[in-house]
Amino acid sequence: VDEHCYNDSTFNCESHDDSTGVKRPPRSFDVVGDVALIHSGVPKNDINLSDQESNHVNESAYFATIGEAIMKKNKAIKVVALRTSALGGNERCCGESGIKIIAGNQRSPLITTHSEYGIKCVVDVERTFFSPRMGPERLRICQQVARGEKVLVLFSGCGMDALQIAGRTEACEVVAIELNPVAAECARRGQRMLSRNKGVKCPGAAERLTILEGDVLEILPKLERHSFDRVLAPRPKEGKMDGDLGAGDGGRAFLDVLLPVMKPSGGECHWYDFAASHELPACNRTAESIRRACDVVGCGMEIIHVASVGSVAKRQNRVCVDFRLIENR
Ligand SMILES: C[S@@+](CC[C@H](N)C(=O)[O-])C[C@H]1O[C@@H](n2cnc3c(N)ncnc32)[C@H](O)[C@@H]1O
Repeated sequence: VDEHCYNDSTFNCESHDDSTGVKRPPRSFDVVGDVALIHSGVPKNDINLSDQESNHVNESAYFATIGEAIMKKNKAIKVVALRTSALGGNERCCGESGIKIIAGNQRSPLITTHSEYGIKCVVDVERTFFSPRMGPERLRICQQVARGEKVLVLFSGCGMDALQIAGRTEACEVVAIELNPVAAECARRGQRMLSRNKGVKCPGAAERLTILEGDVLEILPKLERHSFDRVLAPRPKEGKMDGDLGAGDGGRAFLDVLLPVMKPSGGECHWYDFAASHELPACNRTAESIRRACDVVGCGMEIIHVASVGSVAKRQNRVCVDFRLIENR
């Protein structure tokens, strides 16, 4: 749990001494900038009302009570929102109708500035994907970037991965690609903030970053072959069952276009896939899919690291498989 995700251990007000009547706030929520985002319905027994009262409880009053309790506990939170629908579409967002503001300012559009280890990015909470829970993973990637590397960030969303790499490492060039125009615009705003951020230690961070708006499948074939030292590929989820029963092709089309732009000898890729819990820790299906795609382009590969980086649904995990290309002799 990092600084932007709260659970019982970080947000615990079991006592009943406040005037809101709340016994216990939601067990977990994310903090994105000044927005607290609750991901699912809160069980009604989390609120301290008698049975008779709870039968009559009005849903919006109930959620307003929850929201106000969260804001009372954390003064930096100005909006509490409830995500009422699952992430959908290519953009992996919930859309305007999938978010309900339950306390604080009724802001529309719901845009906020999120700071992660001192680097800021702009997030449109309704129309883009962003997860603060990936902060430690972003840091892990930054720690691997060596001076002078050329790094490609696919599916870059609001740009936090790319901004972290540009701001925190001595990569000579960082190229980010994102399809959703709203997310790409957030990333461009983050890039402008990067140039003004005194906390950024690596010079020329904003200038070293290029944001391309469009489809990875169309843009990658136009980029120079064999040119990137490192590729980050947090591929989007293809429907509900992706990763659960091994449905879909596991993002194979994306692998096919990204492998040719990697340096064939020593290029590294952080490939984010979806895997069912029974596939952990080895994630053989993912590893096999990468191996088959490498065979097609005539490259050898070695797996460097496999880890689960979070859960996306019951028994469905986001996994990262890091692999390195090795030139076949
Ligand atoms: C799971 S989100 C990851 C966003 C970002 N990396 C992050 O962690 O905050 C996947 C992103 O890929 C984008 N996307 C989906 N299909 C794409 C494609 N074919 N080309 C480029 N971007 C795409 C979506 O709009 C979304 O922002």
